[in-house]
Amino acid sequence: MAEHVEVLLTEEEVDAKIKQIGEQISKDYAGKEVHLVCVLKGGSFFMCELAKRITVPVSLDFMSVSSYGSATKSSGVVKIVKDLDEPLKDKNVIVVEDIVDSGRTLSYLLEVLRGRGPESVKLCTLLDKPERRVTDVQVDYTGFEIPDEFVVGYGLDYDQHYRNLPYIGIVKFD
Ligand code: IMP
Ligand code: MG
Repeated sequence: MAEHVEVLLTEEEVDAKIKQIGEQISKDYAGKEVHLVCVLKGGSFFMCELAKRITVPVSLDFMSVSSYGSATKSSGVVKIVKDLDEPLKDKNVIVVEDIVDSGRTLSYLLEVLRGRGPESVKLCTLLDKPERRVTDVQVDYTGFEIPDEFVVGYGLDYDQHYRNLPYIGIVKFD
């Protein structure tokens, strides 16, 4: 492959941060239950690790979306490829994402989920690239703010590769 990956955040740094977010969520939702909604595929690694660090009761669901438009420029109109199995009515939902980039996908998705009558909806992302934001989206829990670089690992892919890296790396093209 004509690229290599440089470490941006080590496995230890990522794991420590996820533990911290889990503790924060456990505090914020004390006495309640949380319903984690994972956006496949990228959010899955983060969600599994995060769920293990939350001490209030947790339920999980998954959805898969694809954005209309070209591969590099999302239009903001999201097609639900796989919908959630369960209704969100009266649930305390936390949407778990790998990265918020332009914000287009998430702002659309959050609107759709809020329309389903949950008690609350919050957004938790492992990574945030604030410089790239086009659509305003409120992020409630952020792991790391990162520079405008293409990153892989911990669920994030480049052409479906590198999702399994236990750290976050920057793709450098040789
Ligand atoms: P957006 O916020 O609507 O632009 O879309 C964010 C989605 O684009 C994420 O859920 C990722 O799937 C993908 N994405 C954005 N930046 C990166 C990156 O640096 N590496 C891998 N995928 C990315
Ligand atoms: Mg994603």
